[in-house]
Amino acid sequence: MSQSFYITTPIYYVNAEPHLGHAYSTIVCDAAARFHRLLGDEVRFQTGTDEHGDKIAEAAAKQGIAPQAYADRVSGLFRATWPPLAIAHDNFIRTTDPAHIATVRLILQKIFDAGDIYLGKYGGNYCVGCERFLTDKELIDGKCPDHDRPTQFIEEENYFFRMGSYQQALIEHIERHPDFIRPERYRNEVLSFLKEPLEDLCISRPTSRLTWGIELPFDPRFVTYVWFDALINYLTGLGYPDDPLMAKFWPATQHLIAKDILKPHGIYWPTMLMALAKADNKPLDAYLYQHLNVHGYWKTGAGKMSKSLGNVVAPLELAKVYGADAFRYFLLRDMAFGLDASFSEEALVERYNADLANDLGNLFSRVLNMLYQYRGGVVPAAEFPQPDCQELLDLGRQAVQGYSQQMQGFHFHLALSEVWQLIGEANRFVVRAEPWVLAKDPAQQKRLDAVLCALVQVLGLVTVLIEPVMPGTSLAMAGHLGLELPELIGLARLESADLVAAGTTLGKPPALFPRIDTAKVKAKAEKAEAKAALPAETPSPKEKKPMAKEAAAPPAQIEYDEFAKVDLKLGTVRAAEKVKGADRLLKLSIDLGEEDGPRTVVAGIAQHYAPEELLGRQVVVVANLKPVTLKGVESRGMVLAAVGDDKVRVLSPDTLLPPGSKVR
Ligand code: MSP
Repeated sequence: MSQSFYITTPIYYVNAEPHLGHAYSTIVCDAAARFHRLLGDEVRFQTGTDEHGDKIAEAAAKQGIAPQAYADRVSGLFRATWPPLAIAHDNFIRTTDPAHIATVRLILQKIFDAGDIYLGKYGGNYCVGCERFLTDKELIDGKCPDHDRPTQFIEEENYFFRMGSYQQALIEHIERHPDFIRPERYRNEVLSFLKEPLEDLCISRPTSRLTWGIELPFDPRFVTYVWFDALINYLTGLGYPDDPLMAKFWPATQHLIAKDILKPHGIYWPTMLMALAKADNKPLDAYLYQHLNVHGYWKTGAGKMSKSLGNVVAPLELAKVYGADAFRYFLLRDMAFGLDASFSEEALVERYNADLANDLGNLFSRVLNMLYQYRGGVVPAAEFPQPDCQELLDLGRQAVQGYSQQMQGFHFHLALSEVWQLIGEANRFVVRAEPWVLAKDPAQQKRLDAVLCALVQVLGLVTVLIEPVMPGTSLAMAGHLGLELPELIGLARLESADLVAAGTTLGKPPALFPRIDTAKVKAKAEKAEAKAALPAETPSPKEKKPMAKEAAAPPAQIEYDEFAKVDLKLGTVRAAEKVKGADRLLKLSIDLGEEDGPRTVVAGIAQHYAPEELLGRQVVVVANLKPVTLKGVESRGMVLAAVGDDKVRVLSPDTLLPPGSKVR
């Protein structure tokens, strides 16, 4: 029976450009949407951008442009990122859309009229990064633990939402619907949060402090708090209150987020929805979403991905090199949904070679090549029952069921593992059945027909099953197998009929996933690493010195102002050690006379200095270089060295000076 399915990504802040984390959430939603289309469901998939609030106003001001112009640019970047990653959303929403602004104001007015919003006074520790007041318990050493910066104490008049009065109803709903928030660890996290009394939520900001927001309909001296504004996007996208899309899709709502925004989605949002239901004279749970699906974090190197740490992975670059499908497959296969995972290009290539080039690519090309060679590409009918062929087909049908269950539960890595087990079985079946031996024996021709037919049918199943995760590959395979579009075939048909009709003529197969040379990828990673840690320009002893005529052009002249941007300081090396797993890197602890102690700087000089030679030495450090993470160590600066012939020597003053002295 056809059902509805509405899936949403978080709407992304426009203060950062799209990175791997955003791509993951959006790809997950796309795969879930495609899977539900295969089930025959009516699907709506929404993503978009979150554009109001302090953070965005701050970012725009830094670039010296108006917030709207700034938001237009970055929102455009998000919008342009999705199609090359084969993401096919039905709606892209922006919180600056007039329709959204109208919906937010309508909902605020309704909840205000129903008595759940009131004017009050509030004093608290405000974090600009989180755009919210933090409780005393959340602070560590007076700082916001997520943004590592001190909060500001602010006291002002503001409007409050009576969130606390829905606490008990929310607890009861979660207890009655065990998979309201899933996986379970996040449900437990929300329940444990709800053990403490829930305070009312401050939902306004005075225009004296912030104007970049939606004006409250009942008091123009205030704009709406960004979370109250942003969460409503999920309703705006369906045309709340009257659009027919609401009736069709809202009861089937599934939100997808990462663990960082569990509290707004697990607590603020359902209580807001209960208040809205009350204002609309409906039962409290009338508008509650069906599931909140929460995933973990992708980490690169040591920690969280963030622009300031310089470890952001650009999704489009990876998709350009490896193809959108391989990139999508890696992300969904390597992260157990709900848990954190670490990203590296080497791991991606390993997966590519093992699962895509070896397993899937190999099965596809060997089966179709044999069909071409032994049967002129014509798919034979299997006339006589062959138990092993039947067994393979039964495994295929079981894989369809297992896969479907796992996909429904958002266990993408397990769903893919079901498909790859089938691919593995099929490859082993080829080895056991030895079609090349059968081909030579006139008495075995019917058996060869059955073997080839079973294998082609398995390829048909796989073609449809991989569509949600690898739509391009699925389409290419379908084309070669003479199938309809996989999304038109759907999952139901896989349970009964053979997909590839006997008598169809198939061509010689293309190579789906040519193997990638892992040595090259490793060398590239090492090169990037060495480049990030000076002195990268050191020619390795094996490299030829350039001939005079090959010499690079001299660097362009620069103004003094440009040079003055580089903050050069003298620092004393307090500790030094080799970085594990990197021949060229030393981890230095350098005292720059800063209050918070010595900094860690990674330098590419391990082949020129033993760690102990540097202890106590004063060196010149570029102190305002953006941090980077090298082999899991965060480096906050760069040590200057002179590079001559094959020697590399760090620069030091001829007499000791106070750490932190300016170098000019
Ligand atoms: N604007 C809010 C969301 C409002 S929704 C009503 C916001 N935006 S965000 O740009 O910071 O995006 C956060 C989301 O991006 C995460 O919840 C997750 O979906 C995705 N990710 C960002 N970094 C990530 C990783 N490193 N790993 C996995 N996903 C991450 O919060």
